[in-house]
Amino acid sequence: MRTIWYMGVKTRLTDAISAAVAEAAPRGEGVLDLMSGSAAVSTSLAGRYKVWANDVQAYAQAIARAYLEHDERSKAVLARLDPEADLGAAYRENQAALLELLGPAVALEDAHLRAAGLAVAGRDSGEHPDDAGLFDQAEVEGRRRVPGDARDRASAYRDFALQRTPAFLEERDAKPSGVFRRAAPLFERERVLARRADPSQAPYHLAASYYPNVYLGLRQAIAVDSLRYAIDQLRGRGRAVKRAHYLAALLHATSVTTSATSHFCQPRGLVRDSEVQAVLRRRSVSIPSRMLAFSRAIRATVSEIEHRPGNAAHCGDWRERFAQGLEEIDVVYADPPYTSDNYSRFYHALEVLTRYDYPELQVKAGKTTKGRYPVIGRRHRSPFCNRRRVERELADLCAASAKAGAGLVLSYAQENGLLFKVYRDQGLTPRRARERFLDLARAVYRDVRLETQALMHSGQGDSNHEVTELLLIARDPK
Ligand SMILES: C[S@@+](CC[C@H](N)C(=O)[O-])C[C@H]1O[C@@H](n2cnc3c(N)ncnc32)[C@H](O)[C@@H]1O
Repeated sequence: MRTIWYMGVKTRLTDAISAAVAEAAPRGEGVLDLMSGSAAVSTSLAGRYKVWANDVQAYAQAIARAYLEHDERSKAVLARLDPEADLGAAYRENQAALLELLGPAVALEDAHLRAAGLAVAGRDSGEHPDDAGLFDQAEVEGRRRVPGDARDRASAYRDFALQRTPAFLEERDAKPSGVFRRAAPLFERERVLARRADPSQAPYHLAASYYPNVYLGLRQAIAVDSLRYAIDQLRGRGRAVKRAHYLAALLHATSVTTSATSHFCQPRGLVRDSEVQAVLRRRSVSIPSRMLAFSRAIRATVSEIEHRPGNAAHCGDWRERFAQGLEEIDVVYADPPYTSDNYSRFYHALEVLTRYDYPELQVKAGKTTKGRYPVIGRRHRSPFCNRRRVERELADLCAASAKAGAGLVLSYAQENGLLFKVYRDQGLTPRRARERFLDLARAVYRDVRLETQALMHSGQGDSNHEVTELLLIARDPK
């Protein structure tokens, strides 16, 4: 399964987790994946169990829905999927409206890509031959010139992307000039605030107004908006299934196309020429082509699973799931954040594109290339990411699972796990720290054991290092 790029994704651990889930409830039929993220674990369990997925982020729910919520009827819809018939007309309508405004700037982006030896809207390497030519991106009139010398060109692109590209500001209208002059309406407060009040207004231009040359190239931002518009215009039979499917495919495509390193936190500063080239390489890929490749990959995964009836993907704090009566749940799989990094900060753009509601941004005038996050009130802050709250939160989670009469499988990280850092700071040895971790479950379960697995982690920029993945398996609630 090819997932979104996600911190803590458990793709390499699904076999160990499946074995642990089976151990926690040998005759179990229903599993709750309490913090499902990329849906890698839920999906790997769906062939054997009825699965409920939950996550506090809406993008995670959207993705889980596309993998889990299936029956014969929905699979038949996916088997007959026709992206051009479903999305083509609305996609082109929205694209034309945005190119009308952004054409000159897109022409300059195209010139930079070509001069760097890169494709304009290049096809994704995973694209199926049958999809070739679908959603080809429109040519723009007028060719732009860029410097012939590579160093001059890098600095010209830096200037274009970081200084000249406007972006929506909360406190005043941005004043676009040069190749962006025609695009002024996209950055007008009045117009964006009108969409905040009614996001269904066409054309869709959230990505083009919020993230141009920040997390996405210009063609990519236009494509994301136009596909998002086309998804919302789906009508007729199978609409809900198609909507869930295409939205998940678009989120995957956007995730692995980010201009930042592997998430949507601080965008790259384009300081070195090599960074300019790396960002141009990311921006040379066609989002629609990549979405089509992911659409095929998701369909292939779904078609291989014999889904149990009644799977569901939820969005909310983990406590909400326990508040709703969980008679059928035999095992809870919990994979909480294990560092102080909040997912709502690292993946805010995926959340915004899922909700597509033009949220208020926390941006300052003149700082358009720094992270363009929604205001803090719109970003979930997890107690698992807070040194003072993490232990209590994990204890509560164990207690809630036990109270529901379910077994528990809990993933955590030792070396860089926040709770273990807290324990280290309190002077606990690694052995004592593990015991104290196990005590959280022993307080409410009779049978608790720990499985460990050494894994190589590639950190942000630093070299690979070994980490110990912990799997706590708890049975027999007190
Ligand atoms: C380590 S990731 C899960 C990764 C997932 N198992 C996978 O394989 O992709 C942690 C997840 O917890 C979610 N999360 C954080 N706090 C939460 C809370 N209070 N309730 C529900 N989900 C939460 C985050 O949004 C994130 O998706």
